[in-house]
Amino acid sequence: MRYLNIQTTKKISKIGLGTWQFGSREWGYGQDYASSEARAIVRRALELGVTLFDTAEIYGFGRSERILGQALGEDLDSIFLATKILPVWPIAPVVQQRGVASADRLGARKLDLYQVHAPNPAVRDGTIMRGMRALQRTGLVDEVGVSNYSLKRWRAAEGALGTRVLSNQVQYSLVHRAPESDLVPYAQENGRLVIAYSPLAQGLLSGRYHQDNRPTNRVRANSTLFLPENLERAAGVIATLQEVADARAATPAQIALAWSIRNPAVVAIPGASSVEQLESNVAAADIELSDAEVSALSLASDRFQPVKGPAAVRQVASQRLRRR
Ligand SMILES: NC(=O)c1ccc[n+]([C@@H]2O[C@H](COP(=O)([O-])OP(=O)(O)OC[C@H]3O[C@@H](n4cnc5c(N)ncnc54)[C@H](OP(=O)(O)O)[C@@H]3O)[C@@H](O)[C@H]2O)c1
Repeated sequence: MRYLNIQTTKKISKIGLGTWQFGSREWGYGQDYASSEARAIVRRALELGVTLFDTAEIYGFGRSERILGQALGEDLDSIFLATKILPVWPIAPVVQQRGVASADRLGARKLDLYQVHAPNPAVRDGTIMRGMRALQRTGLVDEVGVSNYSLKRWRAAEGALGTRVLSNQVQYSLVHRAPESDLVPYAQENGRLVIAYSPLAQGLLSGRYHQDNRPTNRVRANSTLFLPENLERAAGVIATLQEVADARAATPAQIALAWSIRNPAVVAIPGASSVEQLESNVAAADIELSDAEVSALSLASDRFQPVKGPAAVRQVASQRLRRR
């Protein structure tokens, strides 16, 4: 495992573990996964040197935090624990109460990173950061983070907090590269961190899904990325991943992860449906791609032009109606 070169009280692994899947109905992994495989994934992640574990109060409406906390047990104190608040009513007393509730579900004395899950379009960050500051003062929260923030709003959040907002957790993968233009350079130049979510494009970049094998769970059935036309359009990216992977005896998913964490200020938090996937994802931390490999992958990604916008949303909606 490689770790981030950044000043924090605990070290942060370049590959972390995302746990939206834990106890969430929308992923459709079932009860055995929630009650047994999820724990096995966490325990194996610890053995392999993963220190970054990411959850949120909204995942499975608290179940993810509970499952993760129970699986970590006494190891909670030695890992870098990250959770998130959904800022629906983000006044300071509510933020404080929600932080305490998350820590209780996790069984944690401290949240190493408490993130605002998404910007509230109607309330400025000064409001939520008052609550965050209070949580930092009590010692319950160490670092504050944001998620799905633009650079402008990330900086505004830092102004409101009065100290660094360590990280911005955003969608980043070979099929979603927007953070490269501003968030990643900002993080790199200022000792901040970009946490890449959906680094495998929710499994698309494993190469496992195509026209004849479309995923059925709710998360992906409702995603425009998995429309038959987009699966077809992604074939070039998958083929390049496969080529690079073959030359290194690796898998397309591992190459996609290695690509996503190639910048020193970026870590990725792939989810996993099995211990085998987790093991494979962790091994990707040790793959350092050559410039030529990065260029080939980036070029294939530039050529990927998915169908999006209202037309794509309409197609997803009509598929949903047909499934009923
Ligand atoms: N802040 C936010 O707004 C936000 C949004 C989304 C996610 N997140 C966080 O980011 C984490 C990761 O994102 P994500 O779960 O959306 O997408 P992801 O990590 O790109 O994809 C995870 C899925 O990919 C498949 N997979 C994982 N490892 C694999 C491997 N080695 N080989 C083949 N397939 C593999 C699994 O699905 P199958 O086995 O079923 O194919 C797994 O459930 C989440 O758990 C969550 O913590 C945050």
